[in-house]
Amino acid sequence: MPLKRLIYVSRATMPATPHDLQRLHALSERSNRRQDITGALGFTGRYFIQCIEGRAEAVDALMARIDTDPRHAEVVVLCTLDTDKRHFDQWSMRYFDSHALDEDAHQAHQSGQRDPAQAQRLIDRMTQTLPPGGTLHRV
Ligand SMILES: Cc1cc2nc3c(=O)[nH]c(=O)nc-3n(C[C@H](O)[C@H](O)[C@H](O)COP(=O)(O)O)c2cc1C
Repeated sequence: MPLKRLIYVSRATMPATPHDLQRLHALSERSNRRQDITGALGFTGRYFIQCIEGRAEAVDALMARIDTDPRHAEVVVLCTLDTDKRHFDQWSMRYFDSHALDEDAHQAHQSGQRDPAQAQRLIDRMTQTLPPGGTLHRV
């Protein structure tokens, strides 16, 4: 089945506590499971980095909600692509503590442009070089 993958970086508008992140993550997991959405979410302290994948209509509908969420602003979509394979097929939304990626996220956000290669690098670094979960684990 053709799928869509979207990666964005956005600026958090308020200091997100671990409790806030846990609630956001738990809600996202539940809701994404219903929509057959998979992906990953990272928080760097200043920025969110998120990869969302699923049927195009489901990804677009979710992005429309996320885009207007007051917990963040200046959502910069770094890449959208059609694919037939999920990157995070086991995870309705995997969470990564991504503080080590703050500067990279800042640069990608500042550029304000689509940059698929940079987007993929961010996701790869988020998933490969950092221990998954941090204080938050799959529910
Ligand atoms: C950084 C960030 C990432 C989010 N990721 C998701 C997600 O993966 N799935 C989801 O359902 N909601 C996610 N949300 C929450 C949505 O913006 C929205 O609050 C939620 O889907 C409920 O929408 P509704 O009140 O219109 O039903 C995210 C919010 C933020 C700030």
